[in-house]
Amino acid sequence: MDRIGADSIVNHIEDVFRRRGSESYLGEQVTMAQHMLQTAQCAELAGAVGSQIVAALLHDIGHYKNEIPETSLAKGIDNFHEEAGANFLEDYFPISVVEPIRQHVAAKRYLCAVKSDYLERLSPASVRTLSLQGGPMNAIEIVEFERNDYLEQSIQLRYWDDDGKDPDRVHPPFSYYRSLIESLIKH
Ligand SMILES: [Fe+2]
Repeated sequence: MDRIGADSIVNHIEDVFRRRGSESYLGEQVTMAQHMLQTAQCAELAGAVGSQIVAALLHDIGHYKNEIPETSLAKGIDNFHEEAGANFLEDYFPISVVEPIRQHVAAKRYLCAVKSDYLERLSPASVRTLSLQGGPMNAIEIVEFERNDYLEQSIQLRYWDDDGKDPDRVHPPFSYYRSLIESLIKH
C-alpha cells in the first residue's frame, strides 16, 4: 500500500473500521471495532483530552498490517502492532496521540510488574499474550519506562484498553469521532 495523504487519512481509517471492524479481536468477546470504539468511549467518560480519546480509538490500528503503507512498516523491525500503528500514525498525528499507542503494550508489562492486582483486570486473551510480549517488566525496564514523557497517558490508555472488551456495551459509532480526529491531524 502506498503512502496516504493527510487529507485522506480519516477516510482511510473510517474505511478500515467499516471493512475490517467486524473481525474478531484475538480471542476476545468483542470485535476489533467494538473494542477500539469502547476504548475511546472509556477515555471520553473518564474526561480525557481529545488526543487521548483519539489515541484510545486508534490504539490497535497496527493489527491491520496490510492497511498500513509500506513506508510506515519499513520503519519497524518486528512490526509488533503497537509499533506498526505508531509508526503509521506519526505521519499524521501529534506525539500526544502516537506515543501512548506506541507504549500501550509496554504499559501492560509495566503494570503487571508494579501493581499486584493488575493481572486480575486482564482478559484471559490478554494474559495469554503477556508472555509473548516479554512478560512483566524487570527492574531495569521499569526504571527505563518511567522516564517516558507519556508515562501517565500510556497507563491511562492501557486501563481503557482493558475495559473496552464488553460484548454488551452500547457505544458511539466511528462517525461520532470524525471531527475530533480531523481537528488533530497535522497539516
Ligand atoms: Fe487493545
